[in-house]
Amino acid sequence: MRAVTFNGAGGNEVVRFEERPDPVPGDHEVLVAARFAGVNWADVAQRLGNYPAPPGSPADIPGLEVAGVVQAAGPQVRAWRAGDRVFGVVGGGGLADRVRVHERHLAAVPAGLGEDLAAAVPEAYITAHDAAFTRCGLELGEVLLVNGANGAVGSAAVQLGLAAGARVVASVRSAGAGDALARAGAVVASPDKVAEQLAALGGADVVVELIGAQNLQADFRVLAVKGRIVVVGTPAGSDGAISLRALMGKRASLYGTMLRARPLEEKAAAVQAFARSVVPLLAAGRALPKIDRVFPAAEATAAFDYLVQPGKSGKVLLDFG
Ligand SMILES: NC(=O)c1ccc[n+]([C@@H]2O[C@H](COP(=O)([O-])OP(=O)(O)OC[C@H]3O[C@@H](n4cnc5c(N)ncnc54)[C@H](OP(=O)(O)O)[C@@H]3O)[C@@H](O)[C@H]2O)c1
Repeated sequence: MRAVTFNGAGGNEVVRFEERPDPVPGDHEVLVAARFAGVNWADVAQRLGNYPAPPGSPADIPGLEVAGVVQAAGPQVRAWRAGDRVFGVVGGGGLADRVRVHERHLAAVPAGLGEDLAAAVPEAYITAHDAAFTRCGLELGEVLLVNGANGAVGSAAVQLGLAAGARVVASVRSAGAGDALARAGAVVASPDKVAEQLAALGGADVVVELIGAQNLQADFRVLAVKGRIVVVGTPAGSDGAISLRALMGKRASLYGTMLRARPLEEKAAAVQAFARSVVPLLAAGRALPKIDRVFPAAEATAAFDYLVQPGKSGKVLLDFG
């Protein structure tokens, strides 16, 4: 197989693109042949040495997700057979054209979704669904605020919120990056205008926080009574003060989430919830993944540099074709 690998920790000088032996699926695993692979901030953090792969995952091949065709299945696998189109999540090893993945960490790709669009789905939509719905119980008619709404996870959260009948405020700092979200039906606001928009809607019932600690005080200010905040990402920083009085006064809940490090069954539960609730929306075109840019897999370093630049709309992919 061909894989992006990290030869130690550091900047792009540790990144290689190399041939490796194909992984061999274990009893409950399948081997997926993939043309495209989604790039994530976690890959950059791992390259820097800040986010090692969990035990059981390849230590030096980054990549948190997979989409492709089952090529081989371990002896105990019941859910899939060779030729099935699947997508899902892995603890590592996703930036390769052959990926070993547990059978319960996969869902079936809807027929109408092309292989590039399918590759833009798993990490973003599983994370967004798990955060807004499983964790925060977002309901019909509630108000959802997504901070960092133009990114991959953010745009997935916006689409899923709208599909569920929530009213969605999408906070986007880069001009023009929220246009597709506005067309989909979200109220798009720059961070300094979010409070105004939410006041008109009676406050946010759920906040999906993808930016970091700098937003938390403002999140509590715009939160409705019994509101829920879930911290999913902290690219702008993870340390800051919060007011416990605000937490008490709003009778609020503050959650954190991390998909990669979860035990096998918890991760399987998140993927299966996605299969039940999100895949039908993808099949019906009511949720539509957005690809911002595709890089040849041999140019992974350019993809890593691009990923952390502002103003993207949707997902960055590598192409192994
Ligand atoms: N907890 C989990 O399990 C989990 C799973 C997946 C992802 N994540 C995390 O979630 C975050 C978003 O992931 P993604 O795939 O959606 O990334 P993405 O597509 O690159 O989107 C990043 C979003 O954050 C904004 N942003 C980045 N740096 C910022 C800064 N310094 N100040 C203000 N806004 C900033 C971007 O706005 P601009 O375009 O204007 O820069 C964009 O809206 C990442 O931190 C990622 O690591 C966590």
